[in-house]
Amino acid sequence: MSEEEKVTRRKFGGLLTFGGIAAAIAALWGVRKYLHAEADSAVVIARTGSLAPGTSLVFQYPTPEAPCLLIRTSENEYVAYSRICTHAGCPVFFHPENNDIECPCHGGVFSIQDGSVLAGPPPRPLPRIRLEMRGEEIVARGIIGS
Ligand code: FES
Repeated sequence: MSEEEKVTRRKFGGLLTFGGIAAAIAALWGVRKYLHAEADSAVVIARTGSLAPGTSLVFQYPTPEAPCLLIRTSENEYVAYSRICTHAGCPVFFHPENNDIECPCHGGVFSIQDGSVLAGPPPRPLPRIRLEMRGEEIVARGIIGS
């Protein structure tokens, strides 16, 4: 193999590497942009009369594969969180008798006030869903802390 061929192969390899890195960055940027757009989307998740104070309902946001929990904490207050436990991904449940959110897998307990960890192994709070009231519609309007 001549010296000229080696240089050509080296240059070609460098171009492939550069092209691969550029493609990876473009793909990551595209995925990030897609997720950001999904996370900022506005979705009507319930109407104010659809759940009584002290009850909850499950909805999906920002994608059909992302379960969340809407809790009516009082007559005029609603909160919503991701339903995926930050420990190992089990679904969490609202427990009105304890006024908290609990994970049955390893005993994780979260605050309904801010999603913070009250007990158990979860390393992070539950991501909170930003809510907006539009008349009688409750609208999911983004994710805080995802
Ligand atoms: S998955 Fe929830 S505490 Fe482990």
